[in-house]
Amino acid sequence: MIAIGCDHGGFELKQEIMKHLEENNIEYKDFGTYTKDSCDYPVYAKKVAKAILSGECEKGILICGTGIGIGITANKFKGIRAALCHDVFSAQATREHNDANVLTMGERVVGPGLALKIVDTFLTTEFSNDERHINRIRQIEED
Ligand code: RB5
Repeated sequence: MIAIGCDHGGFELKQEIMKHLEENNIEYKDFGTYTKDSCDYPVYAKKVAKAILSGECEKGILICGTGIGIGITANKFKGIRAALCHDVFSAQATREHNDANVLTMGERVVGPGLALKIVDTFLTTEFSNDERHINRIRQIEED
């Protein structure tokens, strides 16, 4: 199950991504926002982060205007590794190297065509399981 969330700045791209997930029979849960009215991105970042940490969802997708504020918020949660990706290379690398569990993007930065390729890459690329990457991810979690 994929957790998806956005603020008003990411609303249209979230709609596109949900349509794409439906067309590809990928289950998701939409944590909002549900309208284009101005709202606060931390609210939706927290909902998605908590859904992943509780085990309800495996991965998340968060969209705001830039992808930055919503990702900064998600990364406050221990165990969340949110990666801002506006290209396919980064989406692949962050899955293989960082085992990123949240993809963030900015609707005002990336077009829908590229965004959907980034989503596909993020969702289908497995973590490498290389010892060096496991070790580095463990260090992220340490104080
Ligand atoms: C909203 O105007 C905008 O600040 C927000 O979507 C995001 O880009 C913040 O990082």
